Amino acid sequence: MGAQLPYEILSRKRAGERLTEPALRAAVAGAASGTWSDAQLGAFLMAAAIRGLDGDETRTLTLAMLESGERWQLAREVPLLCDKHSTGGVGDKVSLPLAPLLAVCGLPVVMLTGRALGHTGGTADKLEAIPGLELGLDRDATLRLLRDTGIAIGIATGSIAPADRRLYALRDQTATVSSLPLITASILSKKLATGAGALVLDVKAGSGAFLPELAEARQLAALLVATANALGVPTSAWLTDMSQPLGRWVGHACEVQETLELLQGEGPGDLQELTFALATEVAALHGVALEPQRLAEAIASGAARETFLRWARAQGAAAAWTASPRLPLAEEEHVVTSSQAGWLAAVDCRALGLLLIEAGAGRARPGAAIDPAVSLRYEGRLGQRVERGEPLARLYLRRRDDGLAAALGECFTVAPEPKQAPPLLYERIA
Ligand code: URA
Repeated sequence: MGAQLPYEILSRKRAGERLTEPALRAAVAGAASGTWSDAQLGAFLMAAAIRGLDGDETRTLTLAMLESGERWQLAREVPLLCDKHSTGGVGDKVSLPLAPLLAVCGLPVVMLTGRALGHTGGTADKLEAIPGLELGLDRDATLRLLRDTGIAIGIATGSIAPADRRLYALRDQTATVSSLPLITASILSKKLATGAGALVLDVKAGSGAFLPELAEARQLAALLVATANALGVPTSAWLTDMSQPLGRWVGHACEVQETLELLQGEGPGDLQELTFALATEVAALHGVALEPQRLAEAIASGAARETFLRWARAQGAAAAWTASPRLPLAEEEHVVTSSQAGWLAAVDCRALGLLLIEAGAGRARPGAAIDPAVSLRYEGRLGQRVERGEPLARLYLRRRDDGLAAALGECFTVAPEPKQAPPLLYERIA
């Protein structure tokens, strides 16, 4: 029994020993119940971050954190249920078009999504730009939505993986957020709680990614895929590029609007390509071959757009909005132009995301309000020729702020020589 005392567990991990299942479960139980102090949990996190956790420890930690809260086991009642997770990016709105496309093809989608994290946006915040849309779903409401519309998108409440809530806040304070095993356990303990039968992950690399380095993003993708599969959920990942905004729009209302444009066949090519790749991937995990042609038909027929609006209405969106789905754009346009001719060589997506937060399209502190109308339209594409004075971006603010627009201009590098643009899809990890 003494072997599970926090002091003993911490000593063992500090010395680089593997932790047994009872030891890891004791730490997670201590986090969820409050019997481990912040000091003990902080030390646990630091020892785990420095000494590492192997694959078995990561799986055990994830399972213990998952079991600290509700598990909905929805796949038992909803066959072919799919889920998707992205490590986050700038302009990454893929979850919004993905859900109706899959639903039209007979694959229901459940997603418990998050709010904005750092410089990246959150699906929940984007959806809240829709008047009336309600994100607080319990298991019964989720099941009803899945039966009625094939889609349920909510926000992870306190009853899902409560141990992660405490551990995540402490990781933030102890500089242990970047540990790959801790990231894996944190993401999957929430993601696996709904019990979907297949999960596809979009792990991003590049200047706008949570982990910008491709090699590190690849390691995270491999650990996420291995851990989720070891826990019995068929899972694969795409490693994708986030060195420029995805699609044309970054913000909240404008990203919902861009989703509707994609669903009526007018979306940008990169957004459609990634959405189709992830849809095909998660369908394949269920043994369903989903051809791009089938997805294109779901758009061309209007079925995917109609399904998105029907789902939004079922989840509380105002009838006036679903009848005429338009959202506001802030009125004050600032055009950011290139100061020289050349080729667009780099976008500092992280700085761009942080500037948008400063402009009001994000939270400068937890709980702050977001202005859904503050937006950015990205006019460039990496590798593209640009002339002097050509627009690189348009910023839409509530009032003039030439300083902010000038700072935004600094996010773009135009070089005298052409530079190869990175691929959108780097590799598949299965
Ligand atoms: N998202 C999470 O939920 N947890 C992490 O650790 C990182 C990203």
